[in-house]
Amino acid sequence: MKYNEITKQLTASPKIWLVTGVAGFIGSNLLETLLLLDQTVVGLDNFATGHQHNLDAVQDIVSEEQWARFKFIEGDICDYATCEDAIAGVDYILHQAALGSVPRSIADPVRTNAANISGFINMITAAKDAGVKSFVYAASSSTYGDHPDLPKVEDKIGNPLSPYAVTKYVNELYADVFDRTYDFQSVGLRYFNVFGPRQDPEGAYAAVIPKWVAAVKAGNTVYINGDGKTSRDFCYIENVVQINILAATSENLEKSEVFNVAVGGQTSLNELIELIKDNLRMNSFTDIQYRDFRTGDVRHSKASIEKAISQLGYDPQYTMNEGLRKMLS
Ligand SMILES: NC(=O)c1ccc[n+]([C@@H]2O[C@H](COP(=O)([O-])OP(=O)(O)OC[C@H]3O[C@@H](n4cnc5c(N)ncnc54)[C@H](O)[C@@H]3O)[C@@H](O)[C@H]2O)c1
Repeated sequence: MKYNEITKQLTASPKIWLVTGVAGFIGSNLLETLLLLDQTVVGLDNFATGHQHNLDAVQDIVSEEQWARFKFIEGDICDYATCEDAIAGVDYILHQAALGSVPRSIADPVRTNAANISGFINMITAAKDAGVKSFVYAASSSTYGDHPDLPKVEDKIGNPLSPYAVTKYVNELYADVFDRTYDFQSVGLRYFNVFGPRQDPEGAYAAVIPKWVAAVKAGNTVYINGDGKTSRDFCYIENVVQINILAATSENLEKSEVFNVAVGGQTSLNELIELIKDNLRMNSFTDIQYRDFRTGDVRHSKASIEKAISQLGYDPQYTMNEGLRKMLS
């Protein structure tokens, strides 16, 4: 498998990586894998939604020697000088920092725009000027908006349904324009509902899996937005880490590209709650209540992952249920 070859090469010849959003869910998982592969990592985060405890958890997993290869910068991607400092001397950038969540963006479009668009343009400009080897960024399946086709194929998108979706689409437009005007290539990874360890279960904008796992464990009511038939292509974090490393090190790409990152499955919210209860062996105790559909939510989602398989050698190792089982075991 291509990924195993790449990780061997990286361990034999370590590189310097910048992970933005490193104290968040996806960023801290990228950090963990990169340090375990003996890479040097610079991490940038302003703790807007990330946590020191995510960094502490990684420190507990890696060796002292590996942890010594991590340099953390507390700072904001909206500050250009901070981006320049963080990028100086790095080979690869995995840009994850952003304000996630559709409802957060509806409640506060201005802050979402600042982090997700101004922060992005700072990062990609500083990356271009520094001549980094590769710039990989977190795009989003929300870019498919109201396009009805399933599975979602990269070149067929609809109208955005939320401010968040606009910001992620603007990232792709900038990435494309940076290729055409400055010959600077980048890779956008359109994540579809990622889940796994260290995903925040707290707060109004928590993602559905950590929120429901916490509710089921605590014996609290689980609220389903809509009729429960809304569906998602849930993707376990280890698949996401794999594709980030493949994308950063890929030498096949001649122009800026975007790729779906998922497993090509489709699970309804009604099925999801049953899977969570099964995996937690808490079948009989959960009170489930249905409430209104949430504004801005896409109704159905399922990815075609053919492009990532053929162009990047993506080979997801976890189906949704395998990921859930691993996370809850
Ligand atoms: N989790 C998913 O299912 C999913 C789906 C699609 C896209 N994404 C994207 O993936 C990326 C990572 O998401 P996540 O789930 O790990 O979310 P997260 O909230 O756990 O992580 C985001 C991190 O970025 C940091 N951050 C936010 N604004 C910042 C700023 N201005 N300067 C510096 N750091 C800042 C936060 O503090 C946090 O640590 C985001 O770009 C998100 O939009 C995630």
